[in-house]
Amino acid sequence: MAKKKLFFANWKMSLLPNQAVELAEAMVDKIKPRADQAICLLPSFSALSLVQTVAGKSQLQLGAQDIFWQEHGAYTGEESALTLRELGCSSVLVGHSERRQYCHETDEMVNKKVKTCLEHGLQPIICVGETFEERKDGQKDFIVMQQLEKALSGVKLTKFDRLAVAYEPVWEIGSGQAALPDEVWYTLQVLKQLLLNQYSPEVVRDQIWLLYGGSVDADNILGLFGHPVLEGVLVGGSSLSVDNFNQLIQASS
Ligand code: PGA
Repeated sequence: MAKKKLFFANWKMSLLPNQAVELAEAMVDKIKPRADQAICLLPSFSALSLVQTVAGKSQLQLGAQDIFWQEHGAYTGEESALTLRELGCSSVLVGHSERRQYCHETDEMVNKKVKTCLEHGLQPIICVGETFEERKDGQKDFIVMQQLEKALSGVKLTKFDRLAVAYEPVWEIGSGQAALPDEVWYTLQVLKQLLLNQYSPEVVRDQIWLLYGGSVDADNILGLFGHPVLEGVLVGGSSLSVDNFNQLIQASS
């Protein structure tokens, strides 16, 4: 069976819990994923449980924006895989550039988080991407390959595991200007080669999704999906309005 196209709504820290519930209610009402689409809401930790009560019985899935690698204990401010599972999450963002930038998250931490997700049946969405300076310096491919290689160091996949890798050029996020489709496809092909170094072609084909994130909207999404290497999107700004997100999903094919 063909893989579903994935649409992740990364709400970041943009909404108060009651606003997140309102938006989730509107989305449950209006957005009906087709059989070949899966849509997942990623509210902040504080809104997860409330959004779960709204989205839990709908076709929309729930995920978290981060995770910690210990199951419980003295880890102030963190949330564990056990908690995320109990709240109904199926996937988790790992290594988003905003966490790398503001919380100094390292590739080693990302690697621990990826392993934790998989041990607990959660799908990690590993975010990789270069800064504008790294790009100007001609290091783009090197940076994204290194981030992915370290994130997956020692990561073995059983047939039950699901993984996603999102190419998110840091300088495109929230800029209103997505990367050009050719560039996205090229970078995803590079990342795919790396995945094929570590996993069988069948595992890469059936269990790993390649995504793009960075200013995706209803105007650019069809172009981005013009090559089969792209299998989903991570959407920030355009997922904060039910109409924009719905239009984007409608416009994707
Ligand atoms: P954006 O955010 O769509 O607002 O650029 C994407 C992301 O950070 O995941």
